[in-house]
Amino acid sequence: MTRPIGVFDSGVGGLTVLRAMRELLPCEDFVYLGDTARFPYGRKPREMIRGFAKENAVFLESQGAKMIVIACNTASTCADSSTATVPVIGVIEPGVMAASAASSGGVIGVIATRGTIASGAYQSRLEAAGHEVWAQSCPMLAPLVEEGLSDSLEAQILIEHYLKTRPKNLDALILGCTHYPVLKNAIAAHLGDTISVVDSAFATANVVKKSLETKALQTHQTTRGSVTHFITGDPQSYQHTANVIGGVDGEMHHLEIEALLAAGHKRLQPT
Ligand code: DGL
Repeated sequence: MTRPIGVFDSGVGGLTVLRAMRELLPCEDFVYLGDTARFPYGRKPREMIRGFAKENAVFLESQGAKMIVIACNTASTCADSSTATVPVIGVIEPGVMAASAASSGGVIGVIATRGTIASGAYQSRLEAAGHEVWAQSCPMLAPLVEEGLSDSLEAQILIEHYLKTRPKNLDALILGCTHYPVLKNAIAAHLGDTISVVDSAFATANVVKKSLETKALQTHQTTRGSVTHFITGDPQSYQHTANVIGGVDGEMHHLEIEALLAAGHKRLQPT
């Protein structure tokens, strides 16, 4: 119960989910893995991302994680959680639930990386629930956020570009990439008041809270929990970008990819 919750993303995007979880679960400890050395996940082959997700999960388990939150849509669409020894929660289902609740019968849109859109993960779930769906990949948006350019003119131009083919009867838009909540205000301003912009961070945090309760895994700590960050790329640029989107607190460690992989090798060694 006192063990941390492990969270990973390809970069700073997962911090949007971490922020929501810290608000809802302030006494929990977290270990966050930002895999910036292998960013972006969104345009890499599915098999490769499945491998990264497994390596990341094994590393987080080696850090004592009692639960793993895949704070990345692309990885959530293809991760295989069958070998994990702890519960694994992704962001797709919570996003679908939140969008269904926000829509009043119009078309639900989803914007995400190429990998997420190509997987059809959102489209199939939303259509199965009876919704009409508009899907658009936005390959330039996550790199823009990762570069700390979320408030730029370039961001506005790209948002306009990616949203220009949206149908007239769109009434909810899912931000299907954890980097996009950083652009939420700009996207909402572009769309106007009649379209709900759905961010899965709080919906995911709610699912995590419920799952901790159901599995009796919630911490008994009564003081504010800690966050430890492991960054596979350059920690300084991670810190810089994270500051643009609200900052990070907690310890920060650089983690070479070799060390990330070694955690898995250790665990997989026969005893
Ligand atoms: N944050 C990741 C997601 O939710 C995508 C960013 C990337 O392309 O690595 O899909």
